[in-house]
Amino acid sequence: MRIKPVTQTAVALAALVALPAGAAVAAEDKPAEEWIHDRQATLAIAGAATKSAACAIKGEGCPRKFDYLGLQARAIAHAAKLAPDAFREGPFPDAEVKTTALPKIWDNYDKFAGGFDKMRENAMAMVDAAKNEDFKAYAAAFKKTVDTCETCHDNFREEH
Ligand code: HEC
Repeated sequence: MRIKPVTQTAVALAALVALPAGAAVAAEDKPAEEWIHDRQATLAIAGAATKSAACAIKGEGCPRKFDYLGLQARAIAHAAKLAPDAFREGPFPDAEVKTTALPKIWDNYDKFAGGFDKMRENAMAMVDAAKNEDFKAYAAAFKKTVDTCETCHDNFREEH
């Protein structure tokens, strides 16, 4: 009677241990469409947070509260942190979904990914400014952050 539950636990543990290995294999087999979807979803976060921050800075009705501004900045920094991995594989010329990522990204991957480092640094300056409740510094860091978006889009993204 005592053995059965122990065995079940052992089986359950084995299943848990097996999971990460299975997940790793699945990641290697990730289809092109999923890679593209994931990186677009990552940048969509940056896009939404940038819009919210711009709306607050321009006084277009979004809250000008420092906790709100700090959250938007963190979301941008977070997206910048995830993005290099989301772009690790490519280009996928035969993918069945639309992408505006230019193939030359993967000939210049380090330079490309360096753009996300700059984006993150500037977004972290926004986080600090929000912490210090310094609206002027926040707006200045925001401008620098948006410059990093535009520089990379000009170099590595198709006109859309
Ligand atoms: C280092 C390069 C780089 C930086 C920095 C960068 N982007 Fe992009 N972004 C791209 C590329 C490449 C794509 C196209 C992805 C695709 O279509 O597969 C893209 C796509 C997008 C999209 C479209 C996502 C979708 O739903 O298809 C948005 C929105 C976006 N970026 C916003 C931003 C904002 C806002 C910033 C700055 C805060 C930023 N990006 C910084 C390279 C960059």
